[in-house]
Amino acid sequence: MCGIVGYIGNKKASPILINGLLKLEYRGYDSAGISTIEKTGLSTMKDKGRVKNLYNLPEIDNLEGTIGIAHTRWATHGKPSMENAHPHMDNSKTFSVVHNGIIENFNELRKLLSDSGYTFYSQTDTEIIPNLIDYYYKKENNNDLKFLRAVKNACNSLKGSFALEIICKDYPDNMIVVRKDSPLVIGKGNGENYISSDIPAMLSYTKDFYLLNDLEYVVLSRDNAKFYNNDLKTIEKETKSIDWDANSSEKGDFEDYMLKEIYEQPKAIRETIGSRINKNSKCEFEELNFTKEYLQGLNKIYFVACGTAMHVGLAGKDMIEKLCKIPTEVDIASEFRYRDPLIDNKTLCIFISQSGETADTLAALKLSKQCGAKTLAITNVIGSSITREADYSIYTHAGPEIAVASTKAYTSQVVLVAMLTIYFAETLELSTQKIATLKEEILLLPKKIEKALKTSSEIKTFAKRIYQEKDIFFLGRGIDETVAKEASLKLKEISYIHSDSYPAGELKHGPIALIENDVTVISIMTDPKLVKKTISNIQEVISRGAKTLIITNQDVDTDMFDMVICIPETSTFISPILSIIPLQLLAYFTSKEKGLDVDKPRNLAKSVTVE
Ligand code: F6R
Repeated sequence: MCGIVGYIGNKKASPILINGLLKLEYRGYDSAGISTIEKTGLSTMKDKGRVKNLYNLPEIDNLEGTIGIAHTRWATHGKPSMENAHPHMDNSKTFSVVHNGIIENFNELRKLLSDSGYTFYSQTDTEIIPNLIDYYYKKENNNDLKFLRAVKNACNSLKGSFALEIICKDYPDNMIVVRKDSPLVIGKGNGENYISSDIPAMLSYTKDFYLLNDLEYVVLSRDNAKFYNNDLKTIEKETKSIDWDANSSEKGDFEDYMLKEIYEQPKAIRETIGSRINKNSKCEFEELNFTKEYLQGLNKIYFVACGTAMHVGLAGKDMIEKLCKIPTEVDIASEFRYRDPLIDNKTLCIFISQSGETADTLAALKLSKQCGAKTLAITNVIGSSITREADYSIYTHAGPEIAVASTKAYTSQVVLVAMLTIYFAETLELSTQKIATLKEEILLLPKKIEKALKTSSEIKTFAKRIYQEKDIFFLGRGIDETVAKEASLKLKEISYIHSDSYPAGELKHGPIALIENDVTVISIMTDPKLVKKTISNIQEVISRGAKTLIITNQDVDTDMFDMVICIPETSTFISPILSIIPLQLLAYFTSKEKGLDVDKPRNLAKSVTVE
């Protein structure tokens, strides 16, 4: 939520900042703004709406400064408007600040500052920050590290989460950045430094990044980055080299990032499998050192995540309980963290997050550690906050995912969880025929995904039939019900059609009352043991006038349904990886038919770094 970028070097800052904002726009697109230090002092420009509005301001070309900060906003406190847009300045216009996060005690700080004579012009929580810095700056007698001391004192008064970039008109050659529970990375260039909420936005400039921990302060100059802890003692940091290709965060020949990412799935799965699966040896996870005794002693495994990542946990529960016989629960991170979950040192908590920055997932992880549980992170982003907190981290290799709606991250996470399950089963010495078959099937996935992608034109035809509908229902049983949930989320978030998913057998207990003539019901049927049962439920909706789309790898009577999409057969454990493909395409084409912005659906942001 909210994207921030910064630049300090010898080049004109504004084009680099705007370029960074365009790459970060998926984090929020309610307003955008920029501040640079010009010869005349601080210069700030902002506008409501998309980054292109800022970019189109005629005055933007007049900015010559080589140091600057910029922001694209996802509104939390205060409506999307010009006055609420970042950067925010203090009353004396000495400091300019961009902020990603939420300041929970902003009301009391605002009152304290108002009592000291400060005036506020926006409804944001952020505006207190430059004023608080100014408040401490004016009190500071010691000129040594005066700017840094003021920032540190202000940060120590803040409760909540923040990633901040601060420039000061008295320090035209420095910028200070700091973070707490919100993402921020520093890219090291040659005689220049780049700052960004995430790595992909800066990949075209550098591949070497400094990763910051909470309440570490960085004083940046053109050719240096000096790091301090919260006691203002200097600390040493090494850069981390990121091997993502700069082109991987570009759209290439595709119309939208989402379509590109859907088509990248064979590669993402191939790279996530890597060399972990070999027919004749055990599944390798060099990052993990779980023993048979530890796994046998577990009282429970917990998957905790949000949204699409949580749906991966549902597939994981199915795999771990069936293959390893370890009781497994799945919870939504925002619920788990306030539920007083029953976990202890015999619980393994697994956190799934594409970004590795989701605020609720991070908080749930910290809580699990406090309760003594071992924590394992599954993310797509090396060095992300969740990976830095967890006891163990394993990675999907999906490459940067830019579209707000997650596609390749979901399928890569499912395959990684499948391999983790095999690793558990082999460590438990449960080596069975099922595991051998699953391994073979995993290796065949990339080719089978390519086949599933060939359903595209049939799906496009179906999208044309349904794009004007108000409600759509998704049904499935067992593993197919977890896919129904994911397909329903995907459709509603980018097409704005209300959709819901149900276990097919639950229909008669209430939801069937919603079925009337011409309502669309979509059903996934990949589990041979359950197909007949689900077909009976579909017959019940057909009798009530529903039109039906079936996604299956089984032999079904195609005449019974309006459309049947055939996908390749595979092990039931990993069938979500194939059955979701036509449904991702359906969400995409439906959104396109409606003329919507597929990559940036309204009200949403890619990385939810606030509670
Ligand atoms: C939906 C979607 C979201 C994310 C959720 C968690 O398409 O992308 O539901 O899955 O916000 O995000 P991460 O995985 O970054 O923790």
